[in-house]
Amino acid sequence: MSSAHRYPETGVFYRALDRDLPLIVRGEGCWLIDDRGRRYLDACGGAYVANLGHGVSEVSDAVAEQIRRVAYVNGTAFTNEPAEALAAELRTLNPKGLDFAYFLSSGSEAVEAALKLARQFWVESGRPDKHKIIARSPGYHGNTLLALSASARGHYKKLYGPWLVPVTMIPAPYPYRCAPDSPAMTAQALEDAIKKEGADSVAAFIAEPVGGSSTGGSVPPLDYYKNVRAICDRYDVLFVADEVLCGSGRTGKWAAIEHFGVVPDIMTLGKGLSGGYVPLSAVVATRRVLDPIAKGSGAFKHAQTFSHSPAICAAGLAAVRHIKKNNLVERCAKTSIVLHRKLQALIDLPAVGDVRGLGLLAGIEFVADKSSKAPFPRARKFAETFVSAALDAGLVVWPNVGHADGENGDLVMVAPPFIVTEAEIDEIVARFKLALDRTLEAAHVR
Ligand SMILES: Cc1ncc(COP(=O)(O)O)c(C=O)c1O
Repeated sequence: MSSAHRYPETGVFYRALDRDLPLIVRGEGCWLIDDRGRRYLDACGGAYVANLGHGVSEVSDAVAEQIRRVAYVNGTAFTNEPAEALAAELRTLNPKGLDFAYFLSSGSEAVEAALKLARQFWVESGRPDKHKIIARSPGYHGNTLLALSASARGHYKKLYGPWLVPVTMIPAPYPYRCAPDSPAMTAQALEDAIKKEGADSVAAFIAEPVGGSSTGGSVPPLDYYKNVRAICDRYDVLFVADEVLCGSGRTGKWAAIEHFGVVPDIMTLGKGLSGGYVPLSAVVATRRVLDPIAKGSGAFKHAQTFSHSPAICAAGLAAVRHIKKNNLVERCAKTSIVLHRKLQALIDLPAVGDVRGLGLLAGIEFVADKSSKAPFPRARKFAETFVSAALDAGLVVWPNVGHADGENGDLVMVAPPFIVTEAEIDEIVARFKLALDRTLEAAHVR
């Protein structure tokens, strides 16, 4: 096969239409191997997805076996064994009360469904005026139109603005750039927004319990979600925890919200839920949310052909059982101590403003001036240049831009599979330094 995988020479089009993409033919643990035999250390599990690493035959065998037995059934007429068993496993893992799972394929779909569920809950509870959503900036919940409406992604939203719905934004807790007693850090911003919008019109507050790419692994203060829960209860607002990125064990607990000791009304899971072996996501909800719908219209008004599909649930079931059997969440928590200790060595390097995170989820924020925390001008494309230099050095990291002020800001995320070894962490740090050297040379920042 030709090695040019670039539009328009190839028949596939990807997001980047202006780049040649390596052709990956194999994965081994934390490593990806391309058609020329080049090895890449995948320090972000693709996109926080390959949590188990590549090559777990229990998962691939479970999918093959399921497809052999029955390929597809539709959830309007039937249930299936893997969906039932996966929901039962999730009950043992999810925060108490989040007992009911609705399976989908992507994080965006899960967020859409979660927000629709919140809306339907209020309508069927006799409060049809409650429809507004409050979300945070920076924050990201997906790319379908409702999920994008709830995301603070200016550069995407600009283009699709005429199609998006209004969502009220409050500032996200972002310790590197927010004062500890600011309304963003105490959750006072949420109460202010609910009062301003009118509690009778607000249906839900959605937040990533621990920041993903959008705030570069920012961890809110310990009492932040206790305040959120109390505010949501005071004003009858549902709390939706978007755990698509930070859930499924990534922060060293099954759900990131567990670190804060509160239970949301609705939670989304995705990305690492199946370890990336198939596209699988889930909306999980409490009885309090589902009962009024069950007793009212009797049906969640949201249908998708591939929801609860046996093959994706079989992968999720095998992945979750593999995680449990091998104590991978505990391993993630232990290994994260090593990861964060070694990543702290980066803080003294030029342009590194902050290194933070929780579990195997770390963000490294780049700045033009360490003392003022001034970001690089966006035109410099620092994060993009770094990611490309890292790829040249055989290291895969995930970039984010725009978080500092809505336009500028450069960071990269390190979020390796839970099986990453200490030697591989050393390799991540070494390659990171090499990529930074090359980026600084290219940007003449020395
Ligand atoms: C917190 C969060 N929610 C939702 C999504 C959307 O997931 P997907 O890309 O699978 O649609 C993402 C994707 O990055 C995410 O990080």
